[in-house]
Amino acid sequence: MVPVVTESSLLLLTPITIRKTNFDTRVKPWRTRAYLPNEELLVREVTKASEEWGVFQVVNHGIPEELMRQLQVVGKQFFDLPEAEKEAVAKEEDFEGYKRNYLEGIKAWDEHLFHRLSPPSIINYKYWPKNPPQYREVNEEYTRHMKKLTEKILGWLSEGLGLHRVALTQSLGGEMAEYVIRVNYYPPSPKSELALGAAVHTDIGAITLLVPSEVPGLQVFKDEQWLDVKYINSAVVVIIGDQLMRMSNGRYKNVVHRATFDKENLRISWPVFVAPRGDLLVGPFPELTGEENPPKFESVVYKDYLHQTIKSWTLDKLPLY
Ligand code: OGA
Ligand code: NI
Repeated sequence: MVPVVTESSLLLLTPITIRKTNFDTRVKPWRTRAYLPNEELLVREVTKASEEWGVFQVVNHGIPEELMRQLQVVGKQFFDLPEAEKEAVAKEEDFEGYKRNYLEGIKAWDEHLFHRLSPPSIINYKYWPKNPPQYREVNEEYTRHMKKLTEKILGWLSEGLGLHRVALTQSLGGEMAEYVIRVNYYPPSPKSELALGAAVHTDIGAITLLVPSEVPGLQVFKDEQWLDVKYINSAVVVIIGDQLMRMSNGRYKNVVHRATFDKENLRISWPVFVAPRGDLLVGPFPELTGEENPPKFESVVYKDYLHQTIKSWTLDKLPLY
């Protein structure tokens, strides 16, 4: 089961569904329920989840439920607009903007809205929908909360590595760390020719905080099988990306994941990708390496890593599970 961590020091491990080819096996629910007496144990649990799974869910995270609901409402309202209106924020040469695309090679439907959230100096408001009118205000408020929660989680993960609490945040560039939201739109797909919503991948940045709508679809690959991430009301799914794996010299796992379509229901997800400032050199922390523990990864300027990875994702190279 994908671990669930709550800020109020209560750890719950939730049931997930293991999907093997044609049948579902339900794992025993509520296997463990343990009280964590202090933040030290919370650090331990988040660290363990990141080492063993590379994904966990956080509840009681402090982001107001109403704000999460509003984020979902304005996102859905945007996608409900006529195609011509959505094209007002269409993607141009860079990655930001609205795009819909059928990916022939992997039989996937890719429809999304991508835009930067932070730092303010790199925001292109031309890619933020003007309609619905509350879109901007809701996303700005959400960004403030996302940053707080991200820095808190990075603090726990830094301590888990035996580093200073601000080590990871600082290594991403502090206030200049880049936050980007991608609203993924997965329409119901009764036709079986659509294989996947999101192809099999790891997230390229440092860490992703994802809020899904209630229709299940996100799956993670662990112990040679695909596991459904169970929907938990108001939870935030935390996904460890490539850079945290590299910075931790392999201790934190960049979880392999994908998203499936639902046959009957529309599904939307709101991942916020947190990445290092583009010009930073990213590699294993020197404190974590030494003669007995050589660096497992080369240090690479983040924007070079990003471009190389995207280039290597040519469709025919994407694995199809
Ligand atoms: C992504 C992603 C999964 C989902 O956008 O990187 O993994 O549940 N999305 O939509
Ligand atoms: Ni992803």
